[in-house]
Amino acid sequence: MTERSIGPVLMNGVEVDPTHAAISVFDIGFQRGYGCFEAMRSYGGTPFRMYAHLERLENSARNLRIGLPDRSVLADWCLRSSKAGDGQLRVFVTGGLDAKNPGTDNTIVIFLEPLPDIPPSVRLDVIEAPWHADGRTSELTGAKTLSYGPNLAATIAARSRGFDDAALVGANDIVLEGPTFSLGWVRGGVMYTPSLESHILESITREATLEVAQRIGVPTETGRYDRSHLLSADEVFVMSTVREVLPVTAVGDTEFEPGPITAALRRGFGDLVAQETG
Ligand SMILES: Cc1ncc(COP(=O)(O)O)c(C=O)c1O
Repeated sequence: MTERSIGPVLMNGVEVDPTHAAISVFDIGFQRGYGCFEAMRSYGGTPFRMYAHLERLENSARNLRIGLPDRSVLADWCLRSSKAGDGQLRVFVTGGLDAKNPGTDNTIVIFLEPLPDIPPSVRLDVIEAPWHADGRTSELTGAKTLSYGPNLAATIAARSRGFDDAALVGANDIVLEGPTFSLGWVRGGVMYTPSLESHILESITREATLEVAQRIGVPTETGRYDRSHLLSADEVFVMSTVREVLPVTAVGDTEFEPGPITAALRRGFGDLVAQETG
């Protein structure tokens, strides 16, 4: 076991010593970033909304034309890995050894990673994302593929300028999402978040937060909003499996205070998690 994994690493369902867990250098997952992945949060050994994550994984794999084992098999592997406790359950599906036949001799890697340190709030730099689908469709629309290089580069660029991460904007300055999280904000008591028509990732935390908003009586609106809409918000927050709901205290030069509706959504999200995993 290494500090990168709590519990065993499963490779195609077989427990492997983490220090020896490896995929082939001939795998197109490694060579071309061809494959897909998921990250779920395990709360005390129970993954939150595991079946929603598995459904998203199946959609990703279908787009990539990679066959997967039955959902019951994947669920069994995820539950075996997550039972070690709290952490981030990582699931990777590589493209395999034959670029002409995706999925050939591929590897499904599952392990539970310790949670990273989560700061109480984040500061975001605005970064243009010409690579983002931003409403356009392609073979891979909606897929959470292994090709996350541009997203990681945006995070690294934002950090080099003293921010924690990036807020990605597309053509016409439309606000999209973060490299590994969704964006939301509050204006006049209404929660806004970019709609899926921009082909942002179908974030499971964003969906759950919209449910929480409805539960606690916060009106919601989704759509295509430009940067000025975000910058004139009363509160801004990020949503993701790892961060849950977290206040944003800067978007570029514009500062924000962590606000009461963000706090209520964060609390409500915690309640939802407790209810579903407790
Ligand atoms: C681009 C992107 N958007 C949003 C999210 C948040 O998704 P989820 O709430 O399912 O973690 C992620 C998570 O990895 C992501 O990579």
